[in-house]
Amino acid sequence: MYSFLIHGGTRLKGKVEISGSKNSSLPIMAACLMAEGKTTLKGVPRLSDIDSMVKLLGDLGCHVYRHEGADSVVPGPSLDGPLDITVTDEKKAEASYDIVKTMRASICVLGPLLAKRKKAVVSIPGGCNIGDRPVDLHVRGMQKLGAQFRTENGYMVGEVSGRLKGCRMYLGGAQGPTVLGTINVMCAAALAEGETVLVGAACEPEVSDCANMLNKMGARITGHGTPEIRIEGVEKLSGVEHRVIPDRIECGTFMIAAAITNGELELKHCNLDHLIAVADRLEEVGVKVSRQNGTIFVSSNRRLNPVEMTTQPYPGFPTDIQAQLMALLAIGDGMSVITERIFPDRFLHVGELNRMGARIRKEGPTAVIQGVKELQGATVMCSDLRASAALVLAGMVAKGTTRLDRVYHIDRGYEKIEQKLNAVGAQIERINDR
Ligand code: EPZ
Repeated sequence: MYSFLIHGGTRLKGKVEISGSKNSSLPIMAACLMAEGKTTLKGVPRLSDIDSMVKLLGDLGCHVYRHEGADSVVPGPSLDGPLDITVTDEKKAEASYDIVKTMRASICVLGPLLAKRKKAVVSIPGGCNIGDRPVDLHVRGMQKLGAQFRTENGYMVGEVSGRLKGCRMYLGGAQGPTVLGTINVMCAAALAEGETVLVGAACEPEVSDCANMLNKMGARITGHGTPEIRIEGVEKLSGVEHRVIPDRIECGTFMIAAAITNGELELKHCNLDHLIAVADRLEEVGVKVSRQNGTIFVSSNRRLNPVEMTTQPYPGFPTDIQAQLMALLAIGDGMSVITERIFPDRFLHVGELNRMGARIRKEGPTAVIQGVKELQGATVMCSDLRASAALVLAGMVAKGTTRLDRVYHIDRGYEKIEQKLNAVGAQIERINDR
């Protein structure tokens, strides 16, 4: 197990290449279960969550091959090669507990398996550090398409007699739309009989990226990126070549890295349109954000204003950047308020930031942040992917050295984060745990 030693007081300056999106790659890889022939995916980052999906697809009768060499659109530190996914055996239908417990996104195989293999046996995802994460909307959507479900020893067993049947359905939940639920049902409907209309669908760019790939495979999907998606079912889908979109959450994290160190970063291979709400809050805080041809320029050279922010479904402020913004506001002027609407309990970073001298008080789904002059280095613990990113950001500005344990949480979603940050002036060492 690794830890980071982060020597604080650094100012970031330079160019960073943003990797392909984890949250787009995972459901897109699962959707390849429905394609005949080979699919080649470009820009898929090298992350432990991707390795888990590769393992799961292998268990489900796919041959997955990662080419060597760079397929990056921008010269420089290379992403690894394209990923070829070919279905070789359609008999298997189980996503085991051992995989699902390491990665909840395994649930993404549910729709593709039901649509293509008429059966899915998926371990029911358990507890999660960021809060309650049921999958009832996924199941309800599949049931509306005609799948039958029963629970057996911690697994959900879904079966379809004949073909799934398209219908009009509402897919919203108490916290609003579901991202992976929308993609899961959209995938299943792509091979169903007749038309499906998904009302209350998630509008995240990852939904559109998957729909675009499915349409290249021969699907008939329209309205993706809006709350109403129409899917005209087809008989079959064929393998294609597809490049996944840039990782907007990694990009947002680096935008805040520039702001928190009063630095200047050029972020390459990213799309500011996917981060409008983030740019809006950063400008309110006093950070300069601009763009030119796929590059985002972020700089800051002053103390930061307090702001209020509430996480919302896309295009609102993403919950996956809530912790990182909190780290920034912890060293800003005045009192800021953050309200978490998507995962109301997603505040495990609060205690760790307070250990570094922050003054943050949690009240239900809201955190009140009293800005302090400086943070101090301390030993802190990663609890989940984005909370860990916030602690890396805090460690870079803290006085002295911060030791960050359990960085395996970070490796799930950030490709070579310490190399990328050290290349623009950070001082982060990866050490083997005692
Ligand atoms: C995706 O998770 C992302 N994961 C999450 O990113 C992200 O936080 C989340 O969307 C919201 O943006 C991936 O893409 C792999 P949801 P997902 O279903 O789809 C409730 C990261 O850090 N809900 O949109 O699982 C749920 O509890 C991860 O990279 C139900 O009630 O999230 C939540 O309150 C963390 N029933 C809300 O909906 C359901 O069946 C939104 O969750 C499904 C969800």
